[in-house]
Amino acid sequence: MESRYLFRINKEIVGEIEKKVSTPFYIYDEFGIEITVNKLYKVFDWVPGGYKNFFAVKALPNPQIISLLHKMGMGVDTSSMAELVIAERLGIVGEDIMFTANNVPKEDFEKALELGAIINFDDLSYLDFFTKEIGNLPELVCFRYNPGNLKEGNDLIGKPTESKYGLTKDQLFKAYAKSKQMGAERFGLHTMVVSNMLNVEYLIDTARMLFELAVELKEKLDIELEFINLGGGLGIPYKRSEKEVDIEIYSKSLKYLYDRILKNNNLSHIKIVSEFGRYITGPHGYLITKVLHVVEKYKKYVGVDASMSSLMRPALYGAYHHITILGKEYKKEKEIYDITGSLCENNDKFAIDRKMPVIIVGDILILHDVGAHGHAMGFQYNGKLRPAEILLKKDKSIKLIRRAEELKDYFSTIVW
Ligand SMILES: Cc1ncc(COP(=O)(O)O)c(C=O)c1O
Repeated sequence: MESRYLFRINKEIVGEIEKKVSTPFYIYDEFGIEITVNKLYKVFDWVPGGYKNFFAVKALPNPQIISLLHKMGMGVDTSSMAELVIAERLGIVGEDIMFTANNVPKEDFEKALELGAIINFDDLSYLDFFTKEIGNLPELVCFRYNPGNLKEGNDLIGKPTESKYGLTKDQLFKAYAKSKQMGAERFGLHTMVVSNMLNVEYLIDTARMLFELAVELKEKLDIELEFINLGGGLGIPYKRSEKEVDIEIYSKSLKYLYDRILKNNNLSHIKIVSEFGRYITGPHGYLITKVLHVVEKYKKYVGVDASMSSLMRPALYGAYHHITILGKEYKKEKEIYDITGSLCENNDKFAIDRKMPVIIVGDILILHDVGAHGHAMGFQYNGKLRPAEILLKKDKSIKLIRRAEELKDYFSTIVW
């Protein structure tokens, strides 16, 4: 079942929330998230060593959501002190934490080590940095591979040869050899070369590259990996014309490659892990915003009470988010509008030249598929405040999981 058919946001639910919280606000649908998690875990239940997703905290760093996902069997993928502290405060420790960060401050490494996280090193030089600044390497280390010209990347993440992330192949082999000499005994391998990828062949090809690398590591360095981390980047269909990734085909193809490459080389103890964020929560988040003004200049503009400071993706990447009008879901699309926020930036637009039913002041717009890299990317430019987050529980009850920012929050760091 495609995630979009799980849509449960209706007038009754929005009305209920509006009694407590004013627009704009985010809603996350627990029911949808659970279905996605169960589906993912079911298709990967063949992995001999086990499969686990480490949810990318940066996608939706709300502790209540992280806790929900952890209860559903997920670890966390963290990349900063704050994300490590979220894990710690939820009692998520040890190898339930992947620490995949770059340009890492000493304090973050220290915290990751203290929590017993799996540290995924982004550069060969970090080994010396770590031993000089912090101490002995942990027993388990992981390295992020950057395949350079061997993979293409995509617009969201850029070409691997232009990317600041990861080790070249030559550096990677040096890193495993060196860390082994330095006392590491257990090893993982990671890559992440695309973001929001819907092309299953590309994803499979990435896995093949990692599986082959695992064999090469065994042959050349006598290192048997404990896990292969496929990274994040599994896409979701933002546009209604796009199709969901068929994860059954993805999983079946991975199994075929796993058997042919890893099993045939006596490496069938290797676990498969991932750091999917967007795929897990993206389709199950909605930004609810009210129309403040409808104005006509050379074009028609609908001004809403959210701005790009609440959802940056359209302005940042030209990303598409489907927009519906509460109660007008089946009305004919008759007008063409730009849907805008109120920042003093002309790219503060959620949609440009979007064909919509007629919109009037007071209408409630629903921006779809904002459950990942949505609220999390928010900022306060122009003194705009970040909106509240609501969890729509399975039984349709409503839980406030982050209050909206208030002016006092905006001023709280200022020295007058
Ligand atoms: C290292 C790393 N892992 C995982 C993710 C999650 O990606 P996605 O939410 O697209 O699955 C990201 C996203 O930026 C990332 O940088």
